[in-house]
Amino acid sequence: GAPVKVDISKLQPGQRMVVEWRGRPVWILDRSTEMIQRTEMLGGERLADPASSKPQQPEYASGPLRSIRPGIGVYVGICTHLGCSPLFRPEPNAEGVGVDDWPGGFFCPCHGSRFDLAGRVFRNVPAPLNLEVPPYHFENDSVIVVG
Ligand code: FES
Repeated sequence: GAPVKVDISKLQPGQRMVVEWRGRPVWILDRSTEMIQRTEMLGGERLADPASSKPQQPEYASGPLRSIRPGIGVYVGICTHLGCSPLFRPEPNAEGVGVDDWPGGFFCPCHGSRFDLAGRVFRNVPAPLNLEVPPYHFENDSVIVVG
């Protein structure tokens, strides 16, 4: 599949857009400063692989935010359990995600896997891996090339 160019100039902090790459949904998430702080505060107690040490992560996905730029997260929107598409639940303590102290992230309705705003999988859910980070780069300030 060819790389996909995405104009992110209209994306606002807190918003997520979905594009298709190689037949799969790719999420582009604009994290606000507050969302970045919330994500950086999570760690090994709650996350299964906070440093993304397992395969399928490009080098730039190794930090807590798993991205080239802190604000912009790019993730394949497919649950690493059995391939459902998790729901965007960015607000803290959102209902229906199965935990009381929800820090915001993504919730898979199929079997209840949870991921943070960097696509890192929480402990004690069926999904074994963090969400995949696809290859991408910034062509300029407002254009991302996925693939
Ligand atoms: Fe997402 Fe099973 S497919 S939890």
